[in-house]
Amino acid sequence: MRHFLNTADWTRAELDAMLADARAMKKSPIGDALKGKSIALLFLNNSLRTRTSFDIGVRQLGGHAVVLSPSGGMWPLEFEDGAVMDGEAEEHVKEAAAVLSRYADIIGVRAFPKFADWNEDRKDKVLNAFARYSAVPVINMETITHPCQELAHIMAVEDQLALEGRPGTDGKKFLLTWTYHPKPLNTAVANSALMIAAKYGMDVTLLCPTPDYVLDERYMTQAQKDCAANGRTLTVTHDIEAAYRGAEIVYAKSWGALPYFGNWAPEKPIRDAHRHFIVDEEKMALTNAALVSHCLPMRRNVKMTDAVFDSAACIAYEEAENRLHVQKAVMRAVVRN
Ligand code: CP
Repeated sequence: MRHFLNTADWTRAELDAMLADARAMKKSPIGDALKGKSIALLFLNNSLRTRTSFDIGVRQLGGHAVVLSPSGGMWPLEFEDGAVMDGEAEEHVKEAAAVLSRYADIIGVRAFPKFADWNEDRKDKVLNAFARYSAVPVINMETITHPCQELAHIMAVEDQLALEGRPGTDGKKFLLTWTYHPKPLNTAVANSALMIAAKYGMDVTLLCPTPDYVLDERYMTQAQKDCAANGRTLTVTHDIEAAYRGAEIVYAKSWGALPYFGNWAPEKPIRDAHRHFIVDEEKMALTNAALVSHCLPMRRNVKMTDAVFDSAACIAYEEAENRLHVQKAVMRAVVRN
């Protein structure tokens, strides 16, 4: 049995096989690969795309989805081993995972950080607890990484580059840019964008306001390792012009600076001073006809201007659609393994 928790656990060849499967299902969506099978989708946080695409995807393959969420009446769960359960939680994840495994063939988990202490959040306790106690494969539907988004993004990039007659990601300049958002957000998609770009042989640039916005060393190290193995580079910069110049893919995302976890007030003036990190036409003009994307949801004219988002360069809708196709491929892969 194999879980799908992080793309770092899967080889490029294995991910390529999933992408090939996803492309086949994009052309021919209906099948019976999951006939008679069920997936339990546990959402501890909001979702539009993930919830809809998993639910519809499993149905398109003949299976069935059950969505569970605290607001939908699920018992509050405890995730700490050895906890004395005299607080809010009525059920331990040990029982919840074991019981769901008796009903469902796959368990999907969405559990964002609590944003109080990064040293705790980086342990990804909810996902890892389900992985430990489940007897069936667990899929990460976004915790502190977002591997399904990674696959959807790389599929959109590869397909659009091929359409434009400049195929392949190898050696392309990939820019991951921090953008302003009024609230400090999860680093999951940024961690994921960094890792998949490195794994797929790109020269990766991380643009952020100050060194405090550099991502967790676990993901920086993984990306650095993959870049080196591919003969590519990982560059961190705070220079907007240098970062955009020559970029072929621009990925926009906002995230909270890790040193301020749990103490966000001093971070606010820093983020407020960097509203100009918005992805706009002027910055895009510095690129090498870059594709641009965002995982969505996205605040228009805060993170990216309407003109850029609504331009032909933007592949965000392709990426969002690909969530459906790649997740079907992931579900097929984990039930086969
Ligand atoms: N990109 C993404 O995961 O979207 P949702 O949060 O709407 O699921």
